[in-house]
Amino acid sequence: RFMNKRNIILDCDPGHDDAIAIMLAGKSDLINLLGITVVGGNQTLEKTGRNTLNLCQYLDIDVPVCLGSANPLVKILEVCPQIHGESGLDGFDFPDLTIDYHNQNGINFIVETILKSKEKVTVVTTGPMTNLALAIRLEPKIMDNIDEVLLMGGSYTNGNVTPAAEFNIYSDPEAAFIVFNSGLPVKMFGLDVTRKVMVYESVIERMEKLNNKASLLFSKLMKVFNENQYRTFGLEAGPLHDPLPIAYLLDESVVELSWVHCDIDISRGDSYGRTNCDIFDYMKLPKNTFVATKVDVNKYWDIIEQGIKNYN
Ligand code: RIB
Ligand code: CA
Repeated sequence: RFMNKRNIILDCDPGHDDAIAIMLAGKSDLINLLGITVVGGNQTLEKTGRNTLNLCQYLDIDVPVCLGSANPLVKILEVCPQIHGESGLDGFDFPDLTIDYHNQNGINFIVETILKSKEKVTVVTTGPMTNLALAIRLEPKIMDNIDEVLLMGGSYTNGNVTPAAEFNIYSDPEAAFIVFNSGLPVKMFGLDVTRKVMVYESVIERMEKLNNKASLLFSKLMKVFNENQYRTFGLEAGPLHDPLPIAYLLDESVVELSWVHCDIDISRGDSYGRTNCDIFDYMKLPKNTFVATKVDVNKYWDIIEQGIKNYN
């Protein structure tokens, strides 16, 4: 079945798992990557931006890279060196950087790219949702040309920063609130499913065998990611969160989605930053979110493997 390429903008905070999302989106027959916008999150914007340039140069992904917001809308940025290291992408020595940022602020890039696109654009966010929230507020007209918003973030079970909240949403709850209440079609890929795709040693070995530059990047980064996840959470392997929304674009059957009411808790209490998904429709409120409830783990690793093979 021939599928038109999906036009996407990827907004991210690399970050080990963001790096694999960039790799997956960067060389696919099904994705037209219009650009990458960067946000402060896992590390400062200076570091997540530099990591993005390094990844695009190393993987030879020739797309505009734009710096967006350094800080959340209201909260103060709290970076995550315990998982991603001081650089935000510890574990891989990149060659000297020769490429530079696209000379446009990330929020203006999102607005201009979407307004001028002849076809609808899908926005994928794998970090705090600050840039997309600002773009929506700066120029609401973009919403008419956005196909859907796919985000890695949230959890309808436990969080990973507080018992209630997941990192991307907890980092900027107000930004998530704007996006989830914008009326845009939102599909949420939360911890509930990403905690099922743990990048075990056996997965790393499988990808290492592919023996190209993407497989080398994958294995080196995932080994450090796993060491940090073990030291921080005592996990045997890290959940490979961020490639999942990209994998969904490549094969929708990789997840099962449920249509629910979801609201972001911005009440500054113990559940600040929670994605409150009414999975059992207790409250009978208007539904606004497709939330991923199941993931086909084998299919996911097959998609990652093919994504690496695309760099042969
Ligand atoms: O909670 C997981 C999310 O937070 C992932 O996007 C990871 O990169 C971090 O940003
Ligand atoms: Ca991320």
